[in-house]
Amino acid sequence: MPIHQRHSISSRPAAPDETDESESPSTPTPPITNTKTKNNATNPEDGGKSDSENGIGVLDVLRILGGILLLSSGMSWLATGESVTWGWNPWFLRVGEWKALVNGPVRLTDAQLAEYDGTDPKKPVYLALNGTIYDVSAGRKTYGPGGSYHFFAGRDAARAFITGCFAEDLTPDLRGVEEMYVPIDASDTPSAENPVPTYDPLAPAGHHTPDSAPKPAEKSKSSDNVGAKKPLTRTELKIRREQEYRQARKKVRAALEGWHVLFRGDKGKPYFKVGEVVREEGWLEKMEPRELCEAARKGRPVRKD
Ligand code: HEM
Repeated sequence: MPIHQRHSISSRPAAPDETDESESPSTPTPPITNTKTKNNATNPEDGGKSDSENGIGVLDVLRILGGILLLSSGMSWLATGESVTWGWNPWFLRVGEWKALVNGPVRLTDAQLAEYDGTDPKKPVYLALNGTIYDVSAGRKTYGPGGSYHFFAGRDAARAFITGCFAEDLTPDLRGVEEMYVPIDASDTPSAENPVPTYDPLAPAGHHTPDSAPKPAEKSKSSDNVGAKKPLTRTELKIRREQEYRQARKKVRAALEGWHVLFRGDKGKPYFKVGEVVREEGWLEKMEPRELCEAARKGRPVRKD
């Protein structure tokens, strides 16, 4: 028996029959130590051990753990303002995940998905990212009509999630999008018509003019420099290009994953995955390949060397 229960026994008022005993002139009042001796007596159910040897009982441990848990949850809520688990948000603690599990996966075509753009208040709001459908009903203000990101609702606009071109790229077609991360040759950019803009911090306001293109004389001077870099061979250029594309594709995957993390609810947003977009075989090839949107093209890094 746990210690707290034992304590309550030893401190409880004497039972009527015990009082009778103590009041009996023939039997002396049992001293308190007698009660303790009684409690410390060997209990066959405890495997022959006395209660004092048992230490803290299971119930005590549970109570202490419960107290710690409660305290931690309270502190987490105060600190984070939204989480009782210090931001830890595994799938099994999310109501949406269970709802999706019970209802089974949603399978919609792109056309069917469009019905879940928030215009019908009775329907959930869905958006898709690279074929995965998420329920973003908790963000109806953002994704519903009039919301700042309504254009993402009811469709798979994976490309726009990468490029940020919300007008042109509302499509799941990611072909060639990695190019936005591939550096363009420095030699491609500077020219007399299109000089590299520079910022002179000492120039008066309104006089931050771009540098003019290097003059031919200056060019030849710099190319005569001792120790100037040798131009890369065709093979070296090819290898570099391949490496850059590999890196660029990695960046696309990472950027996409960042959004998946948000919509899965891993970061605490009450969104969750509900299913997949169903598309016919060869759907991508049937689409017209697209150019990189202007903003993404302009944002491409420029190779220094
Ligand atoms: C690739 C570019 C971008 C993408 C794909 C994007 C996408 C998004 C998405 C999906 C949300 C909603 C997140 C949620 O449901 O919690 C959001 C929120 C927000 N974004 Fe962007 N964003 C981009 C760039 C920007 C930029 C450049 C700005 C600032 C100028 C910006 C400002 C905001 C603001 C203020 C919110 C909160 C709005 C709200 O909750 O209604 N975003 N963004």
